[in-house]
Order: sequence, then structure tokens, then C-alpha cells
Amino acid sequence: MHVIRRKGWEIAENLATPEALFLDRRAALAGLIAAGALGLSGGRLCAEDADPSAALYPARRDPAYVLDREVTPEKYNLTYNNFYEFSTSKRLDASALRTRPWTVKFDGMVEKEQTVDVDTLFKAMGLEERLYRHRCVEAWSMAIPWTGFPLKKLVEFAKPLSSANYVRFETFLDKKMAPGQRTFMPWPYVEGLTMAEATNDLAFIATGAYGKPLPKQQGAPIRLATPWKYGFKSIKSIVRVSFVDKRPETFWQTLGPEEYGFWANVNPEVPHPRWSQARETFLNDGQLRPTLIYNGYGEQVAGLYKGLEKEPLFM
Ligand code: MTE
Repeated sequence: MHVIRRKGWEIAENLATPEALFLDRRAALAGLIAAGALGLSGGRLCAEDADPSAALYPARRDPAYVLDREVTPEKYNLTYNNFYEFSTSKRLDASALRTRPWTVKFDGMVEKEQTVDVDTLFKAMGLEERLYRHRCVEAWSMAIPWTGFPLKKLVEFAKPLSSANYVRFETFLDKKMAPGQRTFMPWPYVEGLTMAEATNDLAFIATGAYGKPLPKQQGAPIRLATPWKYGFKSIKSIVRVSFVDKRPETFWQTLGPEEYGFWANVNPEVPHPRWSQARETFLNDGQLRPTLIYNGYGEQVAGLYKGLEKEPLFM
């Protein structure tokens, strides 16, 4: 099966001891410092990359979103990413990603198709900061201060027709810019949510992290953050948002339909076919913690799944 051929999902990170993880991160950081420029990878300290949205940061933190754990140090977040368009390695270089000009197209079942420049969009939406847990299907986790706006606001902006049942998100497609897109995988990266999920208060569009615009490796300039789902739902570098009546086929479903489904809600009791989801390695300290149902957000989202119990909600 396809998924076996891939390296990054091969759970090596998961099987590694906490010490190995820690050393890996230390080595990554040392390499960056030796290169004399975190911006080489972060892509935001270089003058030529000055971000036109920088003045919008830091945004006011919404105190309603609290964590039961410490925020993950930014340095880990900059050097431990999944962004297959650039590499299957965690320590990837996304500096080739050109983030301006950047537009997002809204199409499908909408009153009127529109294509909007992200800087205009960010100003229209207004930005806020939220602290969210972030749980990868590979069984590692972080806690991140995202900046952005509720996805619900974006949906209102797009004016979908009442007949739309799903939102489909698409990442850029540019084989020259993104070496990973020259591989066999089903590019562009696609993800989807039901309309009810997309308009739940927790679904968030992230434009920044740690009080600054998103670094390239985290999916600049605009990505999704759905913290009750495995991280692969949180699609990066979005260029198209479509409203559709049929459930979209997603990138990971196409690659490994026996392992990855549409819903991907976090559940400690439903193992991935090749590993347990009962615990996760919290990257701050490399310690194992129990996984929480819906990643701890059940109060906000469990109601979305009433009557859908027969669906494979946790894959
Ligand atoms: N989006 C795109 N376009 N390409 C990707 O490879 N990886 C996903 C998700 N979004 C991915 C993506 C996976 S598997 C995870 S766990 C998260 O992004 C990782 O986000 P992070 O690197 O900011 O932690």
C-alpha cells in the first residue's frame, strides 16, 4: 500500500525515545544557529521577506482558550514540521515558498465566486490569538499560540449557498517551487470539513503564530487549525476554498484509504492500524502523556457527531 512507501509517516519519530527526540531538536537548532540565520528556515528574518501583514501582530489574546500545559517553545515549532510539499523530513527547508502576492479563491456553491488578496482578507477579518493543543496522528503533540480568525467568519465572508454541505480546502500547486510536488503523491494537498465543523467556534484559520506572521514551514500565509482533529486536517498554505455538496476526497485518504479517513477526530481508544493512539509524546519535554478524546475539546465539538456514530469518526 502507498502509505508504506512514505518515510515521514513511518512513525520513526513515534518510536524514538524522548531523549532521541530531544537530541534531534537540539541538533536542528544548533544547525540553524551555526548557519547564522534562523530566517533561512523561518523565512521571516530576511529583509527581502518582510511580511506586509507584520503590523497586525501581536493580536489580542482571546482568554476563552486556555491550555492545560505549557506553550511549546517556538524553536521546536520552527524545526519540527510536516510539510510534504517541501520534504518528508521534519527539519525541512520551505524557504522557496513565495508567500506574496497570495490570493485565496472562493468558489463552488457560493452566491458569487471571488478571489481575494490575503492582506485585504486579514484586515477585513481582524486577528486574534488563541492557545491551542496540536496533536499529530504520528502521536506527538505541541501547544501553539496561533493568530488568526474563526473559520466561521471566513465562511460568512464567502457567502455559501444553503445547499452546500462541505468546505473543501486546497493548497498551492507549483512543482518548480515545491520539490515534494514532483513526487508520486496526489497533489495538491486537499482537506475538507462539514459545514457544521467549519462553523464551530473552535475551527480557526491561522495566519500567524507566536505573535508574528506564520513562518513558511508552518504553512504561510494562511492555514487551518482544527485542534480536536489529527494535525493532517490542518491544511497549510491554502489557495482555494470551495463549497460543495459531496464529501471531498482528501490527500491522505487518497494515499492510504485504509489508514486515513475524512473525520480524523482524536481518540485514544482507536489505534492507527500501525500504532497506538493511547499516548502522545509532548515535544516540550519529550514525556508521554495520555491522549484525550477530541484532544480535550469534547465539550466544544462532541455534539457535532450526534447521530453519526456509525461513521468512522476517529480515522
Ligand atoms: N498541509 C500541507 N499543505 N502539506 C502537508 O504536508 N501536513 C499536515 C498538516 N498540514 C501538511 C499540511 C500534517 S501531517 C500535520 S501534523 C500538520 O500540518 C503539521 O503542522 P506543523 O508543521 O505546523 O506542526
